[in-house]
Formats: sequence, structure tokens, C-alpha cells
Amino acid sequence: MKPIHVGLLGLGTVGGGTLTVLRRNAEEITRRAGREIRVVRAAVRNIDKAKPLAGDLPLTTNPFDVVDDPAIDIVVELIGGLEPARELVMQAIANGKHVVTANKHLVAKHGNEIFAAAQAKGVMVAFEAAVAGGIPIIKALREGLTANRIEWLAGIINGTSNFILTEMRDKGAAFEDVLKQAQELGYAEADPTFDIEGIDAAHKLTILSAIAFGIPMQFDRAYTEGISRLTRADVKYAEELGYRIKLLGIARRAENGIELRVHPTLIPERRLIANVDGAMNAVLVKGDAVGPTLYYGAGAGAEPTASAVVADLVDVTRLHTADPHHRVPHLAFQPDQLADTPILPMDEVRTAYYLRLRAFDRPGVLADITRILADSDISIDAMVQKEPGEGEEQVDIILLTHVTVEKNVNAAIAKIEALDSVAGKVMRIRLEELASK
Ligand code: NDP
Ligand code: HSE
Repeated sequence: MKPIHVGLLGLGTVGGGTLTVLRRNAEEITRRAGREIRVVRAAVRNIDKAKPLAGDLPLTTNPFDVVDDPAIDIVVELIGGLEPARELVMQAIANGKHVVTANKHLVAKHGNEIFAAAQAKGVMVAFEAAVAGGIPIIKALREGLTANRIEWLAGIINGTSNFILTEMRDKGAAFEDVLKQAQELGYAEADPTFDIEGIDAAHKLTILSAIAFGIPMQFDRAYTEGISRLTRADVKYAEELGYRIKLLGIARRAENGIELRVHPTLIPERRLIANVDGAMNAVLVKGDAVGPTLYYGAGAGAEPTASAVVADLVDVTRLHTADPHHRVPHLAFQPDQLADTPILPMDEVRTAYYLRLRAFDRPGVLADITRILADSDISIDAMVQKEPGEGEEQVDIILLTHVTVEKNVNAAIAKIEALDSVAGKVMRIRLEELASK
């Protein structure tokens, strides 16, 4: 059978990995896809830089040469960012080409528009590599778990921030040094604040929530908090209490809407997901029929991500000639079946909390704090008062609460911070038991 022709936009970490894997495993991939998947052209900015890897593959600095090339069946977008990636993808679709992308920023922000255009044109847009690198979590959610009503999912879905947290905890490494290492290893985004401030994880969570619950992409409604405010003291206190701190993306079906939130989270250290370290990712999905399922693997890097890109290429190749109506819908649910379930404001989210505050070591302080919490309907699960340091008058007090509503915690924190006996701000980190029930 005639080979399927692929045009690559980008030959960086992921584009380079994709070309390498396609070349190395060409025979095996052809046996699986039923025909050869042949890269016929690639676009880069700097041809001299790409030449050693590209070899005799024709290169261009104009990516529109690729999307407008009539000989190309599938365009693989691996340049990243919003523009010109959006315009290129839309033009590829308009030209009747299938698209594979690893660009979670693009999918989370413009997915609704892109999938509507693809649907109208009868082409596929595949994006397995956009979430959790090499883990086939899109496929698992969209197809493997299709019998289930998904109740919640929680994932470590940013390799860079997990790498930073792990190195800081295990080696006492400095934040900036580990970030530099993550950049050198090709894990970090072009703008690493996306990794550190939870934005990249929120892009991925937005995509997962759409597929899990059958809702449109709503990145702007996701709550996003990163790891930059975490201190070594909190990591240490959490460990003393039997918890690990991870940057989690959580999507949960609640009574009156959907929780969509990314933030540092205490997780009991006995949970498997609490022991996912380095640039590895893991996603825990709770379905009503299957119960909890856990997906683990490399969340970033050249070949792990290429593994997902090539899997999409094989999928698209197999379904290339299928009737568009018989393909798996882009967002798992039929396009006219998307629900308008609201995303809950963060104030309405229900979870447990770790609170750390610095207070003067004098009588009545704890009573004041516990009274404020009780008045706000917050029940305390555990409380620890640390010994004051040499010559210090203030001590750290750590409280763990039971599950409560966020707005009550915010109100209580404001009152605690206003106490004369409390110094500075209260550190608040959310806590999830992630129990199977
Ligand atoms: P890189 O920066 O390593 O590579 C980007 C590539 O795109 C380079 O070849 C670059 O060319 C090319 N490029 C950029 N802009 C243009 C343009 N306007 N015209 C032509 N070529 C262009 O990025 P990554 O490979 O790391 O990331 C690619 C995508 O994959 C992003 O969306 C990223 O979020 C996503 N992703 C990345 C992962 C990772 O581990 N790195 C994992 C999962 C997803 P040149 O080098 O000449 O400038
Ligand atoms: N910057 C991303 C991460 C790449 O660190 O997870 C993979 O999407």
C-alpha cells in the first residue's frame, strides 16, 4: 500500500524524538499501521541546527510550505505556543489534512474551535502527547474507560515541577539549579513559569476534564497555583505527618458542578502516587465501575513523548480511510452531547487543609485559633506545635483539617492572621486522601 505522508512542524526535543523513533522502528510501525509512515518534509527556524538530524529529509523555514503541501496527509505540530501553531493547525484542517499535536497550550485554549473545524472537515486531530508525555492516558480515558461514569481524576502531570520537588526533597537542591537541569534535559516549557506556576498542568487538566466529563475545554475556569511558594519547612513538616507534597491536577464531579484545580497537595505517603518521583507522571482515575486505576510513566522528554506522537500517527493511519462518523470522537463524547455542567469557583471546592502559622508561644494562642476554626465550621484532624528555636519567641503551629469548604477556610485564615499573637501569613496547602471510596 502507498505510504502515508507526514509533514513535521518542528524538529526540537519532541520533533527530533519523533523522527528518530519513526526511523528506528520503521519496520515494526509499518507492520502495525498496515502501511509505511513516511516523513516527507519538516519545518524549523534554523536549518543548519536541524541538518545533522534531518539528513536527507527536505527542510523549510516556512511552516506553511508543509501545511499547504498537497502530498502531505498528516501534519504533526511540534513547534509549541499559540501562534503560529493555531493558524497552522487551522490551515492544515482547512486543507483536509489530519493533525497530530503535542501542544497542550494550544488544545486547552483553542481546542473547541479546532475540534469543531476538524469535525466539519471530517479530519482527525490527535493529541495523546499533549498530556503526561508517554503515558497513553487520553486513549485510556477516551476508550478503555468508556463504560464508566468518571467520578474524579488526580494527576502529577508536570514533569518539571515534580523533578524540582523531588530533587529539593531528596538532595536539598536549590530551586533554580534544579530548574536549570530540567531545562537542559528538555523537560521544561519554552517559558518555564508555565511549569512552575501550574499553568502547564492546568492546560493538561483542562484536556483531561473535557474527555472525562464530556464538557468543552474551559482552561480559563481552572484554578491554578504553582510550587514557587512552597518552603523546605512545609515539605519537612508534611513528611513528619506522613504526607508528601505534589503538584496535583484534580478534576472532580461534585454535587453542583465540576472542580478543576491545580495546586500543591499533601498526599498520604502510602499512596502509590505519592511516590512518583523525578520527571515521571501519574494519573489516578476513579470510574464508577472500574474503581481507581493508576497510569504511570515518563511525563516529558524526547522519546517518551515521541512514543505518544507516533501512537497517534499509527491511529490516524489506520483510520485514515474510515467513515468519519465511525471514528472515536475527539473528546470521547459525541460532539452534540457535550454537557454545560458548570466549573465550580474555588470558594465552593471541598477538600482538607494543611495550615502552618507562626505564633507567639504564650497562653491562649491555641485556644484563639481553635475557636476561630470551630466558628467557621472547620474541624481539626491533627495539630502540632513545634519547639521554639534557640532564643526565638515564636513557634510554628501546624494544623490539618478535615474536609471543609474553601470559603470557610479563607474566612478563618483572615481572622487568624488578624490575631496579635500570630505573625505574618498563614501557609495553606490543600490535602487530599485520594482514597478509593
Ligand atoms: P523545542 O523548543 O525543543 O522545539 C521546537 C521546534 O519547533 C524547533 O525545531 C524549532 O525550530 C521549531 N519552531 C519553532 N517555531 C517555529 C516556527 N515559527 N517555524 C518553524 N519552526 C519552528 O520544543 P519541544 O520539542 O520541547 O516542544 C514541542 C511541543 O511539544 C510543545 O508544544 C511542548 O509543549 C510539547 N511537549 C513537549 C514535551 C517535552 O518533553 N519537551 C513533552 C510533551 C509535550 P528551531 O530549533 O530551529 O528554532
Ligand atoms: N514541560 C512539560 C513537563 C513537558 O515538564 O511536564 C511535558 O508536557
